[in-house]
Amino acid sequence: MARLNPENEQRARGLIALYPQRRSALIPILHLLQAQDGYLTGDGMTHVGELLGLAGAEVRGTASFYDMLHTEPVGRYVVAVCTNIACMLAGAYELLAHAEERLGVAPGGTTDDGMFTLEDAECLALCGNAPCLTVNWRYFGDVDTTAFDALVSELAAGARADEVPAHGTLNRVERAAGLLATGATVHPASPGGALAADGIASRDPDLVASTAGTTGAVSGMATGPGRGADDPATGPGRGADDPATGPGRGADDPATGSRRGAGAHDAPDGPRRGGGDPAAGAGGGERGGDSRP
Ligand code: FES
Repeated sequence: MARLNPENEQRARGLIALYPQRRSALIPILHLLQAQDGYLTGDGMTHVGELLGLAGAEVRGTASFYDMLHTEPVGRYVVAVCTNIACMLAGAYELLAHAEERLGVAPGGTTDDGMFTLEDAECLALCGNAPCLTVNWRYFGDVDTTAFDALVSELAAGARADEVPAHGTLNRVERAAGLLATGATVHPASPGGALAADGIASRDPDLVASTAGTTGAVSGMATGPGRGADDPATGPGRGADDPATGPGRGADDPATGSRRGAGAHDAPDGPRRGGGDPAAGAGGGERGGDSRP
């Protein structure tokens, strides 16, 4: 597949309606395209440029700048091993060497069966569970070589398909809230996306609650998609300003004092940047959360 399919083109038009300037929807739509095909195809980027009125060079310039966007095919699972300072001190290079040997590829390479792409990543912001890695932007911490082997075996067998969707899938829940361009409409496929009279979409508590999921664990690893991936329907940012909480990262949680809200991460010792929990404050709603359908 190359261009956005009709369903995704409709979603792209809905995304465009969220911004005062069409071009501001570029990155969210690129994520949408990547979720469709696993990487950004040339025809797909041309289509995105047509939708946004951008030159091909503008689209490609953005697509080639960000690590999260791939302009070449990658494996079904992109395994990014952090080798930054905290992880390095905890054995990240030994883990990376083991990953290279286990998968038979160097960083940047993809296994012959197209299952895994290995990456050497900078700090993934899970330093407290070093050494860590992400698989399709889902976090796995405290990973030793035994846990790594178990993880890739489970992934290859499809045993973690619910937890770790195919590469490109950031979030399987569509955006339901945010500041919209004046007069913009939300396309029908956006659940809970009713526009208020002032042009600010309402937050659907059920939808936000649905982003808080659970996850299994390979023995010895702190797992979980707690920080959550950016939603192609919300863009790579930290979530739309919430009219109830003011701009930025959401309201202070009176229960925790946290400005990020309670995380969707359900591991007791895991990171806590996840999706806004309506029970704990607005938090970083669009930023986090497991994305179980
Ligand atoms: S150094 Fe590895 S997550 Fe920060």
